[in-house]
Amino acid sequence: MTAQTDLPTGEDLLAAIDRLRKEKNAIILAHYYQTADIQDIADFVGDSLELSRKAAETDADVIVFCGVKFMADTAKILSPEKIVVLPDMDAGCSLEDSCPPEKFKAFREKHPDHIALTYINCSTEVKALSDVIVTSSSAETIISQIPEDQKIIFGPDRHLGSYMSRKFGREMLLWPGVCIVHEAFSETELLKLKGQHPDAPVVAHPECPPTIIDHADYVGSTSGILQYAKTFEGDTLIVATEPHIIHQMEKALPDKTFIGAPGADGNCSCNICPYMALNTMEKMYACLRDLEPRIEIEEGLRLKAKQSLDKMLEMASGTIGKGDLGRV
Ligand code: 13P
Ligand code: SF4
Repeated sequence: MTAQTDLPTGEDLLAAIDRLRKEKNAIILAHYYQTADIQDIADFVGDSLELSRKAAETDADVIVFCGVKFMADTAKILSPEKIVVLPDMDAGCSLEDSCPPEKFKAFREKHPDHIALTYINCSTEVKALSDVIVTSSSAETIISQIPEDQKIIFGPDRHLGSYMSRKFGREMLLWPGVCIVHEAFSETELLKLKGQHPDAPVVAHPECPPTIIDHADYVGSTSGILQYAKTFEGDTLIVATEPHIIHQMEKALPDKTFIGAPGADGNCSCNICPYMALNTMEKMYACLRDLEPRIEIEEGLRLKAKQSLDKMLEMASGTIGKGDLGRV
């Protein structure tokens, strides 16, 4: 159990995290959906592909993963000799929950002539049952390398799968999972917002349903969206993904306005990822101090899961992780 008594606060907390990071030769990796304080103290902030690459190549002894569990699991699969800690072990993902390994295995067995391209938002067991892992920034490059006549199962995100399927004009068997965060955007409210800001482009993550994607000027991973924001020339941008990414946009472009796309209640608070929100600065400090809670993966399972992840890193080697999916 992680003891959380006697925690420093404010400036002392920042200094204590910094001291522990040096003492333990630790690297702090953070996803763009973490709160601004976590992003600001991290050594590296990125999308799923960039964070996987960073975890695979770092020479730190400890990886403090500020993201969700499948991301920390991926770091451990790729860097088994390192200690990988996650501030809150309950930081899961609705996509991972939607795809229990036994059901996925049975589904694969029913379709033996299909290969399984699986979104990285899944358990280690599901990775071990898959042929190639994809992220939102590598999916397009990877699918373009799969022969036309090869049948594909795509899971667990049906929206990313259907977006890819439409983009390539290629049928795929889709697992019926969704991200509860991107599912919460409202088309009606988005159209109202577009009416108020007719010149503002809409950027969307491909985990959004088609009702949102079809109104987007750009669709891409978190890094792709950030890259787009840095190059667009207008004043205002409407952002249809988890709103914490706006922190990096505001840092890079302080004179521009970024508006989070709304949910059905007309604001974007329902689009905060409840799993990412479990990680806090205090829990990060405690896990650096205690080196707990730690990710552990049985070696046989790790080696199987590593095959599909290595395949992704190899097939995506031409991409720089900017997630340039563009538009259908
Ligand atoms: P990215 O790879 O685009 O950062 O997506 C991760 C994720 O979980 C989005 O919900
Ligand atoms: Fe999972 Fe959605 Fe949260 Fe990403 S935003 S971690 S897909 S629940």
